[in-house]
Amino acid sequence: MHKDLKTMIGLACTAGALALSGCSSDAKTASPTADAGCPGKDAGCPGSDAGCPASDAGCPGTAGDPQTPGTGPQAEAWLAKGDYKTWKSEPAVHDSRSPSPHGKNRIFSNAKLSAHGTGEYPVGAASVKELYDAAGTTVVGYAIGLKTKAGAGDAWYWYEKMGTTVVANGNGVALCVGCHSAAGSDAAHSGHDFVYTQVQ
Ligand code: HEC
Repeated sequence: MHKDLKTMIGLACTAGALALSGCSSDAKTASPTADAGCPGKDAGCPGSDAGCPASDAGCPGTAGDPQTPGTGPQAEAWLAKGDYKTWKSEPAVHDSRSPSPHGKNRIFSNAKLSAHGTGEYPVGAASVKELYDAAGTTVVGYAIGLKTKAGAGDAWYWYEKMGTTVVANGNGVALCVGCHSAAGSDAAHSGHDFVYTQVQ
């Protein structure tokens, strides 16, 4: 397993144009106990820099805590723990709201996001969206938005997985930013600061 991850890192680093030195040194210094190829403290890993692509399954994201989603390859394990289900939630699954492409869903807001007023959300504000099948009974995917630093643009971390396909994993994912940047822009776009639905 560890060897496979190392191979993946090697491939990702060869394929990526980004900071090759960071990636190759990660592979050399990999610690089998503490990480899956790229130690979180290593400056070559995502979250701290652009040395490895955020989508590289060999590099750790962050584990998160009950109020903070895990990121990168740790997002799924964090979602599976279900801490977000203790957050403020919409009462029921609903059809997507315009202009959402998400399908039937249910949104959860963490304390920082839920409690916030106008203006920019604080770092640590987060949403989880459960994505449902057409019947609205089975969760088929998840989307996460997490404010990781002040500002706009790449200030939000985005994650989305539909079935087994990771659609988004990283800050500033163009697909997500392109639409979420319109939140609060006019009467047809609710919310503000990249968040459409704030559950209070
Ligand atoms: C074309 C517009 C559009 C795109 C593209 C889009 N979203 Fe959304 N998203 C919405 C809308 C509208 C909502 C609110 C309500 C709904 O879907 O029912 C929403 C809700 C969310 C929420 C819940 C918090 C909130 O802002 O309401 C998350 C998390 C989220 N989206 C993540 C993502 C991710 C990750 C991507 C990229 C893979 C993405 N979205 C792409 C329109 C979009």
